[in-house]
Amino acid sequence: MDNSHRSSIEVDRGRIGGDRWSEIGWHALSESTDWLEYIAQFHRDRPGITEALLQRSRDEFGDNPYVWLIGALPREGMVLDLGCGSGPTAPGRSGWVGLDLSRAELRAAQVKGRTRVVQGRAEAVPLTGGRAAAVTASMSLMVTDDAGLVLTEAYRLLEPGGVIVILLPARDPVSWADRLRYAVLLVAVGRRAVPFPHPEVENDVLSLLAAAGFDMVADDARRFGYPTTVRSQADLLVDSLYLPGVPAARVRSARFVARHWGDASIGIPLRRVIARRPAA
Ligand SMILES: C[S@@+](CC[C@H](N)C(=O)[O-])C[C@H]1O[C@@H](n2cnc3c(N)ncnc32)[C@H](O)[C@@H]1O
Repeated sequence: MDNSHRSSIEVDRGRIGGDRWSEIGWHALSESTDWLEYIAQFHRDRPGITEALLQRSRDEFGDNPYVWLIGALPREGMVLDLGCGSGPTAPGRSGWVGLDLSRAELRAAQVKGRTRVVQGRAEAVPLTGGRAAAVTASMSLMVTDDAGLVLTEAYRLLEPGGVIVILLPARDPVSWADRLRYAVLLVAVGRRAVPFPHPEVENDVLSLLAAAGFDMVADDARRFGYPTTVRSQADLLVDSLYLPGVPAARVRSARFVARHWGDASIGIPLRRVIARRPAA
């Protein structure tokens, strides 16, 4: 029997959730690219690492980035998280559904009791449109193959008047000490920037949202301090970076650098963009 057909019908009937779903890898990946292979391996080796990092990071109010993100989501209705990873946006939301490419990440979500997960691509979500009260993409839009397509999908999935909340890496706000630390870290790994397949998304996100049909609601940035006082915390920071092609010796150097920042925290600048599908 054709699994993809059967799966779509079950989703349409709203029978999403439970272990069975994470076992269905029906949604074929696009043609294999170096990046897809790298990211699949990365998340297979360290599921939940983004959540582990960001849960420990705090803004000036003492909140982590997920508290900030979740604060912009409606309390009721279906919330669809595209590139959900281990599902940090799920707590407190009975209507939460997570989608991710990585089976290992979805397993990590399930271990935390976030069971309503679907394995698939955010560029072609196997769910019926017009039903989600909110769509979110936390630290995932810039790593997908085609951010414009993901936003078009988000628009299709939302009910009229529904919101999209996007969390992205940003350049600011950071302190001078943060800038210096990142510069030293990048020298250690031999890169000019942390690579994402589409870093331009940070600049283009507003025009991509407009092109998909969204109305802008808000666009803010905050600095989240991540503590690197303990060796394991410093290592987690380095290990959470996508570093394709960086030799192991350079990764060890970066860990060495981060371990010696002393009694400090490094700022992670993040941007939260909120937009709305116009009411019908
Ligand atoms: C940096 S992690 C963020 C995970 C989670 N949202 C969080 O905030 O902790 C990026 C996630 O996007 C997923 N991902 C990358 N490309 C994807 C795509 N095209 N479709 C669905 N998920 C994708 C990865 O497997 C990974 O779990």
